[in-house]
Amino acid sequence: MIDVGIITVSDRAAAGEYEDHGGPALRAEAERRGWRVVADAVVPDDKARIQEAVTSFSSQGCGLVLTTGGTGIADRDVTPEAVREIMRVEIPGFGELMRLRSVEITPNAILSRGLAAVVGSSLVITLPGKPAGAVECLGFVEGAIPHAVKLCLGEKTSC
Ligand code: MTE
Repeated sequence: MIDVGIITVSDRAAAGEYEDHGGPALRAEAERRGWRVVADAVVPDDKARIQEAVTSFSSQGCGLVLTTGGTGIADRDVTPEAVREIMRVEIPGFGELMRLRSVEITPNAILSRGLAAVVGSSLVITLPGKPAGAVECLGFVEGAIPHAVKLCLGEKTSC
């Protein structure tokens, strides 16, 4: 069983100006895979707020933390920088695969700087803000998630 935390990163959703669809979409995807969503949050595009949510979910025991939003190149997009400042290591293959597969769907996928990293004992994956894009990207990398989460949690696992 993978315990998951989901963070929607959006100024407008955090201000209540826009209904969060990304968080619920990821929750449904997580539950469909038999994972347990133990925490969720909507935070603005603010590095400190993103870092606070990620570290809080990590210390609550979430082996997997998914964020959606703020991976692009708009002025306020800072999710990858926020995670990089608190990570132990980045796992470049996740971002590479998400972009490689996503450009087959939309050329704009190249604009996402999404990544995966180890923060504390959690695997953190930063997904695009568009709900369909977040779900697609999760699907592209899901095969490696159970093994990666076990390694992050320090559990015994064989390749
Ligand atoms: N990846 C997939 N698979 N599907 C998408 O629709 N949208 C792209 C991209 N990645 C998209 C995608 C778009 S339009 C943008 S601007 C970037 O993700 C960054 O989005 P974000 O800033 O909301 O995270």
